[in-house]
Amino acid sequence: MSNYHIKHLEEYYKVYRKSVREPENFWEEIAEEHFVWRKRWNKVLSWDFKTPEVKWYEGAQLNITENCIDRHLFTKGNKTAILFEPNDPSEEAEHISYRQLYERVNQFANVLKAKGIGKGDRVCIYLPMIPELAISVLACARIGAIHSVVFAGFSATALSTRINDSDCKMVITSDGSFRGAKTIDLKGIVDEALEDCASVESVLVAKRIQSDVSMKEGRDQWLQPLLDDASKECAPEIMDSEDPLFILYTSGSTGMPKGMVHTTGGYMVYTAYTFKNVFNYKQDDIYWCTADIGWITGHSYIVYGPLANGATTVMFEGVPSHPDYGRFWEVVEKHKVTQFYTAPTAIRALAKEKLEYVDRYDLSSLKVLGSVGEPINEEAWHWYNDNVGKKQSPIVDTWWQTETGGIMLSPIPYVTPTIPTYATLPLPGIQPALMDENGNEIDGKQVDGRLCIKFPWPSMARTIWGNHQRYKETYFSAFEDMYFTGDGALRDTVGYYRITGRVDDVIIVSGHNLGTAPIEDVINEHPAVAESAIVGFPHDVKGNALYGYVTLKETGEGRMHDNLRKEINQIITEHIGPIAKLDKIQFTSGLPKTRSGKIMRRILRKIASNDTSNLGDTSTLLNPEVVQEIMENVK
Ligand code: WTA
Repeated sequence: MSNYHIKHLEEYYKVYRKSVREPENFWEEIAEEHFVWRKRWNKVLSWDFKTPEVKWYEGAQLNITENCIDRHLFTKGNKTAILFEPNDPSEEAEHISYRQLYERVNQFANVLKAKGIGKGDRVCIYLPMIPELAISVLACARIGAIHSVVFAGFSATALSTRINDSDCKMVITSDGSFRGAKTIDLKGIVDEALEDCASVESVLVAKRIQSDVSMKEGRDQWLQPLLDDASKECAPEIMDSEDPLFILYTSGSTGMPKGMVHTTGGYMVYTAYTFKNVFNYKQDDIYWCTADIGWITGHSYIVYGPLANGATTVMFEGVPSHPDYGRFWEVVEKHKVTQFYTAPTAIRALAKEKLEYVDRYDLSSLKVLGSVGEPINEEAWHWYNDNVGKKQSPIVDTWWQTETGGIMLSPIPYVTPTIPTYATLPLPGIQPALMDENGNEIDGKQVDGRLCIKFPWPSMARTIWGNHQRYKETYFSAFEDMYFTGDGALRDTVGYYRITGRVDDVIIVSGHNLGTAPIEDVINEHPAVAESAIVGFPHDVKGNALYGYVTLKETGEGRMHDNLRKEINQIITEHIGPIAKLDKIQFTSGLPKTRSGKIMRRILRKIASNDTSNLGDTSTLLNPEVVQEIMENVK
C-alpha cells in the first residue's frame, strides 16, 4: 500500500482510515520518505484548538527551496520547472529549467541580502504573473524572509494597508503589467501606496512593459542590473519547521483583511502530498493552474506543491479572453498541458462564447481538470466535462481556503467517482464535521450544516499576523474544539460533501472573497451617504455580483443619482480595487432593521435576487414600510 500516491478507491479508504487512526504515524512516514530535512523533528504534532496552537514537525529544520529546487538538480537539472506563457501569444514562451531556476533564485536571494533583508523580515511582492514573481517568492524563502504577495489588481490603498499591517521592509514590483489589451501602471500604484508606509526602506523594480516610471532616489532601484551582478550561489537559511514562510491576506466579513500566517514544514508536506494525489501527477506532465500567484491557489499549486514534486508548472500572464476566447485552449494545445486547474467563473465566461473557440484546438493531452474558488454549478460542470475534457478527464472540484493552505475536500482522479457540484471526499488527514446551530455535530448521511474541521492538518494557518485573538475568535470560537470554515455543506448518502456556500458576510465574486462590511465602510465615507448595505445576488458569469442599498443624507433624484453611482464605484475602486465594484446600486430612504438595530440582510438578499414571494419571518422588523418602498423601486 502506498500512502503517498493513492491509486484505487479501496486504497483511498484504507489510507484515509489510517490517517484518522494514527495521524502522527501517517504524516511522519510521508515527511520521512519524500522530503529533505536538515534535522529531524522531535515531535510530529502538538495541538490545542482552545489557545489555539498547532505545531507540526516541531524541532525539525529545513529550507523549503532545497526541497523545491536543489534536490532536483541531479536528476532534473535540465527539466523545465517554470514554463512562462506571456500575455501576448506572439511573444515566445520561456522555459526555465530547474538549474536556471536555482541560479535565478540564488541571485535574487543575494540581492535581497545585499539590501539588508534577512530572516523574519517581511517583503511585499506586488508583481504581475511574470517569472520574477515566482522567483522572488522563492528567493524570500531561500533566506528566510517572509513574503507577503499582494495581488497586483489591488488599489494603492489596499496595498498600503497590507504593507503597514505587517511592516514590510521592502516592496518588489514592476514598471507595469500587461493584461489582455491593457497595460497597468503598477509602479505608479506603488508610489501612491508608499506615501504612507514608513516601514518600507527599498523598492526593487522589474522591467516588463518598458514604460517611463519615476524612480525615487535612495529608495527605488531597477532589479535586473542588481541580479546581473549577483552570485548564482546562495546557501539556504536553515529554518525551523514552524518558522513563518509567508503571510497572505484574505478578506474577512468585517474589519481589516486578515494576514494569514503559514509556516514551513507542514505547509510543504501537505501541498506536495495533495498536489501529487489531486492532480495524479506523473513525471512528464505539464501542469497548468490559471490562478494568480497573488492568491493562495497560486502559492500552493503553482509554486510550492508542483516544484516540491519536481513538476513543470505553467505560469500564464494573460487573460482567457485575449486575443480571443480560445486563448486557454490554444495554450493547452501548444504546451500539451496534462492538468488544467481553473475557476468556475472562468468556465462560465468561456461557456457563453461559441464552442468553436474550444473545438479549434487539440485538447487530447488533458487528463485531469480542476475547479476551485467557489461552488461550480451543474451547467458549468457539464460544459467543462463535455467540451474541454471530452468526458475523458475527471474533474476535481477542490474545496479549500487561504486559511487551510491546501486542498481539503476533493475527488482523487481515476479513483473517486465524481458527481457534478460535489467536492466529494476529504483527503487523507482531513476530518470534516457538520455542525448545527446549537453547536452539536450532525452525524449520519443526507444532512447539512456548518462545515468544521475537527483535527489539525499540516498546512493550516497558524495565526493572523499581529492578532492571534482575532484568529481565535474567527475560526475557533463558533464551535468548541473545531476549526470553523465559514461555509455551509451537505453530506449525501455515500458520505460525499457538497459545499452550499458561505454562511457569513463574505461574498465570492468571480472567485474573489469580498467582505461586505469593508465595502460598506468605504461607501459610507462618501459625504452624501448616510448608510449602506451590500448583499450578493446570483450572476451567471461571476457567480455572485454585489448589490448595494444606499441611503443618502439628503434625498436627490435622477441625474444626481447617476453621478453618485459613479462616484461610489470610484471610491470602491480606489480603496479596494475594481473587483469590489457594485453591479447595482439602489437608493432608499432607509434600510430594513430589527428592533435591536441590526440590518436584516436576509430580506435585502431576497429582494436583490428577485425572490420576494416569501420574505420569511419579518416579525422583528422595525420598519416594514421601507421594505415595501425598496421592493416597489426595484420594479
Ligand atoms: C469557496 C480559495 C465551493 C469557499 C482556495 C471557501 C469553494 C472560499 C470551493 C475560500 C469549491 C473554494 N466549492 N466553494 N470547490 N473552493 N470555495 O480563501 O466559500 O480564496 O471558504 O481560497 O472559497 O476562498 P479562498
